[in-house]
Amino acid sequence: MISPYESYVYAYPHKTAYRPLDPRHELTEVWRGERAGSFYAHIPFCEMRCGFCNLFTRTGAPEDLVAAYLDALERETLALSGALDPAFATAAIGGGTPTYLSPSELGRLFDITGKLVPYGSIPLSVETSPATATADRLGVLRERGTTRVSIGVQSFLDEEARSAVRPQKLAEVEQALDAIRATGFPILNIDLIYGIDGQTPASWLHSLTTALRWRPEELYLYPLYVRPLTGLGKIGRDWDDQRMELYREGRDFLLAQGYEQVSMRMFRLPGTGTTTDYCCQTDGMASVGCGARSYTSTLHYSHEYAVGARHVRSIIDDYVRRDDFTQALIGFPVPPAEQRRRHTIQSLLQKDGLDLALYRARFGDEPDVSAVPGHWLVRGEGMLRLTDEGLAHSDAVGPALFSGEVRALMAGHDAR
Ligand SMILES: C[S@@+](CC[C@H](N)C(=O)[O-])C[C@H]1O[C@@H](n2cnc3c(N)ncnc32)[C@H](O)[C@@H]1O
Ligand code: SF4
Repeated sequence: MISPYESYVYAYPHKTAYRPLDPRHELTEVWRGERAGSFYAHIPFCEMRCGFCNLFTRTGAPEDLVAAYLDALERETLALSGALDPAFATAAIGGGTPTYLSPSELGRLFDITGKLVPYGSIPLSVETSPATATADRLGVLRERGTTRVSIGVQSFLDEEARSAVRPQKLAEVEQALDAIRATGFPILNIDLIYGIDGQTPASWLHSLTTALRWRPEELYLYPLYVRPLTGLGKIGRDWDDQRMELYREGRDFLLAQGYEQVSMRMFRLPGTGTTTDYCCQTDGMASVGCGARSYTSTLHYSHEYAVGARHVRSIIDDYVRRDDFTQALIGFPVPPAEQRRRHTIQSLLQKDGLDLALYRARFGDEPDVSAVPGHWLVRGEGMLRLTDEGLAHSDAVGPALFSGEVRALMAGHDAR
């Protein structure tokens, strides 16, 4: 039987399907006639390396590395400014942990990217962590127009955090959440993880209940994944049933507390979602930073990708040495068949589902969902949706819709 936890499809195709572009693509060509609806800046530094984490980030930064990184980010932002007409409807700064930067470094980050991005007039989301969500940093974020702060908590029990190899103290978590609320951001998001070794329905409920003390506008409930190259990956286990049980418990609890479900992972208080005219299926994203992806309707591109600590470090070192950011070097040109798959995956994995009229208007035909088991799909009012069980199995549905080519590229990626 297929696991309900094949993989988290936050983007299609995944970066492991990207390859060196030959010839390289000039950014002025890449962005000609395209709309960059969203902006993303990536900060690849953290004060700790959590055992479960497979994001592109490193622990700490030797002296001057942050300054050198911001210098490179400035060169990259300038190159991007020369290639596109900004039409950003939304922006995000993520990582890693952006608030690993000091208040003055954060100020510089906003000065640099603010030449391109109209902070203050569009929604801006920034990620933070318990140890770095200090009042002075949060003050800079608020001043510069941050509308949403997202903090990783994972668990409100120190022993569970420890078990996930995340050195964290409850007092620090509570202080950070109080500080975020005191600073007055319109949206607070809390990330929690289920499926940690030793976690039970009772301890999961404890974390969920505690999170609601701050009445977050959004919560992301992540099933734990361990990959061979992350610290925890060395311990092989089978825990699908535990994750599914805790998923159902978390979903039912939040629904009973008045939250609405947006996707398998995302829950929010009704009426608190930000409305923008950005459409993730059709609009492009322009990014800066060495772990970020950018995409137009026909090309997805990024810098090099790795998970292993040594390679992440050398990619960051190469990034800060790079002078010329006017070309995309690594990516995936997206042919029409893959554009269809991407649109289908991105729509179907949202609770609202896929708008059939929109799909037909864009592609002139019907979406192919034959790879998804029929009992997980419902049709109605011009929409194609996953059932509750289908949504619970999002991490199996998404991968089932991958093309053979993308699967082969991902399998052939040199996983460092
Ligand atoms: C960039 S981090 C959040 C901000 C900050 N770095 C922190 O950890 O507090 C993104 C989120 O992805 C989730 N995440 C990362 N790796 C994961 C994994 N292997 N399994 C489940 N969730 C994971 C965590 O919930 C984490 O909070
Ligand atoms: S979970 Fe957050 S703090 Fe931990 S290593 Fe990943 S990005 Fe860094």
